[in-house]
Amino acid sequence: MLHKMLSYRFLGPILLIIVLGYFVAEMLGFGFRQPVFLPGKTSSAHHQIEIACDVCHTPLGGVKQEACLDCHKDALKADSDSHAIKVFNDPRSYALLAQIDAKKCVTCHAEHIADKTGNKVASVPDDFCYACHKEITTERASHKDFSMDGCTASGCHNYHDNQALYENFIAQHLNEANTLALPRVPARNMADIHRQQATPPLKTLIGTDHDGISSANDAGIVQDWAASGHAHSGVNCSDCHSLTKSGAVAKEWTNKPDIAVCENCHKKETKGFLNGKHGMRLAVNLSPMTPEMARIPMKDNAHNKELNCNSCHSPHRSDTKEVAVEACLTCHDDSHSKAYINSPHHQLWKKEITGELPVGSGVSCATCHLPRLPEKEHGLESILVMHNQNMNLRPNSKMIRSVCMNCHGLGFSLDALADPALMINNYSTLPSKKINTLNMIQGRKIMKKQSSSDDLK
Ligand code: HEC
Ligand code: HEC
Ligand code: HEC
Ligand code: HEC
Ligand code: HEC
Ligand code: HEC
Ligand code: HEC
Ligand code: HEC
Ligand code: HEC
Ligand code: HEC
Repeated sequence: MLHKMLSYRFLGPILLIIVLGYFVAEMLGFGFRQPVFLPGKTSSAHHQIEIACDVCHTPLGGVKQEACLDCHKDALKADSDSHAIKVFNDPRSYALLAQIDAKKCVTCHAEHIADKTGNKVASVPDDFCYACHKEITTERASHKDFSMDGCTASGCHNYHDNQALYENFIAQHLNEANTLALPRVPARNMADIHRQQATPPLKTLIGTDHDGISSANDAGIVQDWAASGHAHSGVNCSDCHSLTKSGAVAKEWTNKPDIAVCENCHKKETKGFLNGKHGMRLAVNLSPMTPEMARIPMKDNAHNKELNCNSCHSPHRSDTKEVAVEACLTCHDDSHSKAYINSPHHQLWKKEITGELPVGSGVSCATCHLPRLPEKEHGLESILVMHNQNMNLRPNSKMIRSVCMNCHGLGFSLDALADPALMINNYSTLPSKKINTLNMIQGRKIMKKQSSSDDLK
């Protein structure tokens, strides 16, 4: 029977019915945009937005490269991508591309394939560098005994971001101390710049200046606000609570100002938040993320806590100290996060808060995950908080330049991040071994010196 069904006579009509069915379903709007049609588990990178099939798939099902670029182009550019698409425009690359089409993101970042797209960043086998660089083990004596699946292991190379791993960069940072003489991250200066720039000069508001509507004049709220940076910089209740602001008086009051309100004055922070994991659902118009949706361990009692600006910042107190550790630990509950409390970094952080150590000497969760980075704003160099907590997360060597090297030498930072045990104990012990990269580069420097002095003879 089945035999007959599949004979050529029936195949045509069956295919036609399937194709027509597909278009009808698409037109009716229930199409195949459903999780039941996922062929396998979505990667941890994107599982939070998997339901928004359309941000990646075209109406007929394929994946457009533009989708990947829309969301990731800027970050890869900022990383000075070693294998950017333009690297392969050279005709000499055509033979390489025939082996592995490196101009297409999906070649290495497939989705929904059970055994490939779990927690790994890329879906290619570990030895894929071999396709293009097989000559390296013969061309470079130092690489003679290396196996081709080890290029990205233990902090030697990354495919995209090699900013902490370039030979010249490492050569400039050989023999640095484990911990530098003045271990400090730069101070934030958004408020200072804002005050300098304001015309007319800012008026510091006090409690009685507030313009909240009378039904909302909670004394506690007014008190908190009056002590906040917002009141000091002239930001009144209605700046956040009024939907149609006219003059100083709120016309239409909302009790739940949303992220668009904060975005009015804090564009860079909002952009970072939306580009990172915490904000990625809001960025594609899905409901806010909650810990219940997470794959990594979260506190049981936080399951329904929504992620927006106020899940870390309390709306009327703009103090950022409790935000940098306590807020994170209301949700996060994995071993790395829990181990932080007993780490040497947390001891430094407590001393910074009590004033025993100068500002910038402590290391909070935010010091590593929401690093302070220089940004051009109003033509001035300001130091702002990067709110995309995935920007420097994977591969973890991305943290070296933006964070660790404010306080530690390059060699120590590379060793610490290459040691998986230190990830679990939140950098509480010394790294167990030294990686070989620095020795190799030192060796090459000596060789180059010798050969250039040979040239002189
Ligand atoms: C973050 C981007 C992203 C989202 C969101 C997404 N997919 Fe995919 N999907 C991909 C990628 C990448 C591939 C692999 C494409 C390739 O290899 O050419 C893929 C492959 C597939 C395939 C295999 C057939 C094919 O086109 O290669 C199906 C079926 C599929 N997705 C269905 C879905 C459905 C249904 C949803 C929503 C519930 C969804 N996808 C959401 C990125 C995504
Ligand atoms: C709607 C925006 C969006 C689209 C479309 C999208 N991504 Fe992503 N992607 C994200 C966000 C947000 C994250 C998590 C934060 C991060 O890692 O930057 C992420 C994570 C990743 C990661 C993992 C990074 C890590 O930290 O582990 C890779 C790799 C990646 N995306 C590649 C792709 C590729 C390839 C495509 C196209 C098939 C694509 N993305 C489509 C938003 C998007
Ligand atoms: C030839 C394989 C390959 C191709 C093609 C490729 N990637 Fe990657 N990508 C990787 C590997 C491997 C990693 C893991 C980290 C590393 O080694 O740099 C990665 C990591 C990433 C990350 C994590 C963050 C980072 O900076 O490393 C993002 C985001 C990403 N890729 C996006 C893309 C996008 C977008 C494209 C298409 C323009 C693309 N990749 C093309 C192999 C590839
Ligand atoms: C599709 C081919 C292809 C694949 C796959 C590939 N590369 Fe490359 N790689 C290139 C090309 C092309 C260049 C540029 C060559 C040049 O400028 O001489 C390059 C340059 C490099 C460089 C020197 C430039 C720099 O920015 O550091 C390193 C190191 C490197 N690749 C390592 C790797 C590693 C490690 C992998 C695997 C994770 C890998 N490559 C995978 C083609 C590839
Ligand atoms: C920087 C912006 C901002 C300023 C300034 C501000 N608020 Fe709010 N306020 C918020 C946000 C955001 C929420 C919502 C919190 C939430 O969703 O849980 C809120 C909530 C409230 C609520 C509801 C409280 C509740 O528990 O639901 C009241 C009442 C309120 N604010 C009054 C005031 C008054 C009065 C002032 C001035 C003295 C003021 N706010 C100044 C941002 C602000
Ligand atoms: C009308 C403009 C305006 C709006 C709207 C606004 N802010 Fe601000 N915000 C400022 C200014 C100006 C400062 C600098 C204040 C200072 O510390 O002197 C600031 C400072 C901050 C700080 C840093 C305080 C510190 O201790 O350094 C945080 C956090 C903050 N805002 C969060 C928010 C959030 C969250 C929202 C939305 C609920 C919001 N802001 C809405 C103008 C605004
Ligand atoms: C995951 C927690 C978290 C979320 C969510 C969050 N912030 Fe922050 N934010 C912080 C921390 C922590 C700091 C202070 C970091 C430091 O001092 O190094 C901070 C600092 C700030 C500052 C100080 C100004 C600066 O850049 O120097 C502003 C403004 C701000 N956040 C606005 C926002 C806005 C707007 C949102 C929502 C779009 C938001 N934050 C969401 C944790 C968060
Ligand atoms: C309201 C709860 C909540 C708060 C508060 C919160 N997070 Fe998260 N965080 C989440 C959720 C949910 C995810 C997504 C996890 C997943 O998809 O498995 C996440 C993801 C992350 C990731 C990316 C993990 C990954 O594998 O890609 C990092 C890093 C992170 N958070 C750090 C922090 C830091 C640092 C703070 C404090 C400044 C903080 N978070 C505050 C709920 C929270
Ligand atoms: C000294 C820097 C540092 C500090 C402090 C730090 N982290 Fe991390 N964290 C890292 C690095 C590096 C990784 C990535 C490790 C890797 O993938 O190898 C990471 C990974 C994570 C992840 C992802 C875990 C996963 O399984 O995907 C979360 C969530 C996280 N950290 C939250 C926190 C929280 C919450 C705190 C504070 C209680 C904190 N971290 C303190 C450096 C730090
Ligand atoms: C604000 C400065 C600062 C930053 C940023 C910082 N650290 Fe540290 N770290 C220190 C100081 C100071 C110590 C304590 C050194 C001591 O006790 O001699 C320390 C201790 C450590 C230790 C424990 C050493 C021991 O003796 O047990 C490790 C591992 C470590 N840091 C790794 C890192 C890594 C990896 C990063 C980047 C992700 C980083 N640190 C970022 C200042 C910093």
